[in-house]
Amino acid sequence: MSGFYEDKIFPVILDVGLRKLEEDRRRLVSQLRGKVLEVGVGTGANLPHYPVDAEVVGIEPGAAMLTKAQRRIDTLTRNQVSLADISLQQASAEALPFADQCFDQVLMFLVLCTIPDAERAVAEAVRVLKPGGEIHFFEHVRSPDAGVARWQDRVDPLWRKIACGCHLNRATDKLLAAQGLEVAMNEQGYHPQMGLRVASYVVQGVATRPVSQ
Ligand SMILES: C[S@@+](CC[C@H](N)C(=O)[O-])C[C@H]1O[C@@H](n2cnc3c(N)ncnc32)[C@H](O)[C@@H]1O
Repeated sequence: MSGFYEDKIFPVILDVGLRKLEEDRRRLVSQLRGKVLEVGVGTGANLPHYPVDAEVVGIEPGAAMLTKAQRRIDTLTRNQVSLADISLQQASAEALPFADQCFDQVLMFLVLCTIPDAERAVAEAVRVLKPGGEIHFFEHVRSPDAGVARWQDRVDPLWRKIACGCHLNRATDKLLAAQGLEVAMNEQGYHPQMGLRVASYVVQGVATRPVSQ
């Protein structure tokens, strides 16, 4: 998706709107290790938080988002902030341009709500993960409360337009388990800083590719 709103307005809304998640980003990203693939890096808000000895490959289909993420890296580097070894590539989660079993970990931070074929994206993440490798996720999902889920279904068509393809009502947690991953949930519930209940039921955890798979 590309256009004035998607390229110029939405990235700013994203950065400002998600600023309150800085502590969640730091807590999750700072514990990642080894060769890490970040799917849908957006404007690169997670990039400052990787440990400096991690090797990070960030993919993102949107050229404007990717430019912003690269600018963020350049600014941090100019300001002598120590960063991980980070490279960015334009690519889609559903067709990752990487060999099988070449990453230790994958980060999915608020992306499975938006990726058009989320099932395919998870299958691709599993393909590029080493056996025993982990998908670390932080995603807003369909609420387990029937009343809230009904509102998510109602609001979704409008929300998708405003939020560039983001769905409010995807059961991402179930999707991960359905792909044969061992899912360990660290936190789930309405995130106090994410506003309305329709958009704030968050699951955060680790989905591990079984060693035998
Ligand atoms: C809500 S934003 C989150 C961005 C970033 N992960 C963050 O935490 O700020 C969703 C991101 O998913 C990206 N995205 C959309 N379709 C995608 C696809 N097919 N493959 C990978 N990323 C995609 C969007 O371009 C956008 O950057």
